[in-house]
Amino acid sequence: MTSAPVQKICLAPGLLYIPAYLGRDAQAELLQKIRAILQTAPLFQPVMPKTGTPLTVRMTNCGPLGWLSDRAGYRYESRHPVTGQPWPAMPEIVRRAWRDLGDYAGEAEACLINYYAPEARMGLHQDRDEADFSAPVVSLSLGDSCLFRFGGTTRRGPTQSFKLHSGDAMVLGGPARLAFHGVDRILGGSSSLLSEGGRFNLTLRRVSVG
Ligand code: SIN
Ligand code: FE2
Repeated sequence: MTSAPVQKICLAPGLLYIPAYLGRDAQAELLQKIRAILQTAPLFQPVMPKTGTPLTVRMTNCGPLGWLSDRAGYRYESRHPVTGQPWPAMPEIVRRAWRDLGDYAGEAEACLINYYAPEARMGLHQDRDEADFSAPVVSLSLGDSCLFRFGGTTRRGPTQSFKLHSGDAMVLGGPARLAFHGVDRILGGSSSLLSEGGRFNLTLRRVSVG
């Protein structure tokens, strides 16, 4: 596969936006890998710690570790909460994105796969369940575009929003690693990549130090 040179746009200190990181063929290839992962590690419905309120996204993972949320809290686990099986391996195309964009010596250990139906969203939060914040979070988007919101390291600070489209990548590192972020809404019908509509987002993380 040939890949066009990518443009890394710095939107805020530590926040890199890489439009069209994956071309249409690479998006289709990644989607096929996600569909294969879902065969053995189906999407599950996470709930909020303590209250048990369902999140509006459904999720699964691939790689040695997977992130999940249930009444007991947020954490990484090596097995799927419903099937009890180890998470499927991270596809090469995902590992390549981490090597290309992560600027980190170690491998990614977790790849969270979120599925947003057109009405789903994700409230402002920080990604802080990892032991090593020197490693960035690398994000890949597929399917419908979304309105992504990005703020500072305090919940109440100013925020900016911008659209993420199918094939776009983003890196939250350095001063942006613990920035609050979320997804305000999905722009339903903006992509034809997913026959069922909606959006997949993959977030690649290093969990342990090293
Ligand atoms: C997340 O922060 O877990 C997901 C972000 C996104 O969907 O772009
Ligand atoms: Fe996040």
